[in-house]
Amino acid sequence: MSSNSSQRRVGLLVGRERSFPDALIAEINTRNSGVSAEYVRIGHTSLDDERRYDVIVDRISHEVSYYQAFLKRAALGGTHIVNNPFWRIADDKFFGTCLARELGIAVPKTVALPNKDYPEGIVAESLGNLVYPVDWQAIADYTGMPAFLKPHWGGGWKLVNRVDSIEELLARYDESGAYCMILQEEISWSMYVRCICIGQREILVVPWDPRKSHFERYVGAMHWRLDSGLERLIVEQAQLLNEALGYDMNTVEFAVRDGVPYAIDFMNSAPDFDITSLGETYFTWTVNAMADLAIARANGDRPRTNYRWDALLAGVRALRA
Ligand SMILES: Nc1ncnc2c1ncn2[C@@H]1O[C@H](COP(=O)(O)OP(=O)(O)OP(=O)(O)O)[C@@H](O)[C@H]1O
Ligand SMILES: [Mg+2]
Repeated sequence: MSSNSSQRRVGLLVGRERSFPDALIAEINTRNSGVSAEYVRIGHTSLDDERRYDVIVDRISHEVSYYQAFLKRAALGGTHIVNNPFWRIADDKFFGTCLARELGIAVPKTVALPNKDYPEGIVAESLGNLVYPVDWQAIADYTGMPAFLKPHWGGGWKLVNRVDSIEELLARYDESGAYCMILQEEISWSMYVRCICIGQREILVVPWDPRKSHFERYVGAMHWRLDSGLERLIVEQAQLLNEALGYDMNTVEFAVRDGVPYAIDFMNSAPDFDITSLGETYFTWTVNAMADLAIARANGDRPRTNYRWDALLAGVRALRA
């Protein structure tokens, strides 16, 4: 089962979802490209494991920490992981927002907040660096109200709240536990789009309506008309974000206010690609784009970003040879 054979192998690591991975495996396997796909099977992971996959598409390691250990070890062995397991767990919405702004992309005014609670053992003396109390008035003046309070690392709208006043902000903040939260200016939009992004450059811009229920957001969205200049800008900005973050699989959301696209959430490294959410047309596009990408990556077409140890390891291996 090693990659020494001429057949190259793509493995999928998944949670409960079935429609996307089943369709991706079927699509790769019907192409007769010399690359096959299957669900990853793992028990324990050992120091001495051989490389079994050329590419692994990871859809779940954010929820299964053992998979992070497995994936990082696989990356060291030369497997290309979509998405990069080192970055995927380290990313956060505050850093991303700051990075986007540095890249010249419009973003909501955003503040990172000290935690409400801390793990057991962290006491007042442990937090001597922190200025207390938090200056809620200054924060609210900066973001304006209403604003969005949300975890700096999160998904599925968990603990995402729109707040109208400082009182409401404090009430929601008090419920945030040990999560690091951010507060963000509300962008009141006239159009909202989600970009499905595969391989950093392939971008499908689609209307997406966050006011609808989960399964209606793509298929039930109004078909807002983006003029071609705006659509081009959105595509370029989505590509720039993916390139900066190194994501090969992502969704990037923009809220359009006064003709300006504001990047709202662009760190969805395992986006919902279920057919019931995407609808048939977007689903088919996504499966095809991901099959193209996985095959290309399995054939050695890797992105520019490499791991820091690559050059050192190449030197050590050359000495050993
Ligand atoms: N600053 C903002 N201005 C306007 N709307 C916002 C803002 N922040 C968040 N929202 C709304 O809240 C929704 C959820 O926020 P966000 O995407 O950051 O959370 P999430 O938990 O990552 O969600 P998902 O799982 O859909 O990616 C967004 O789709 C958007 O509709
Ligand atoms: Mg998200």
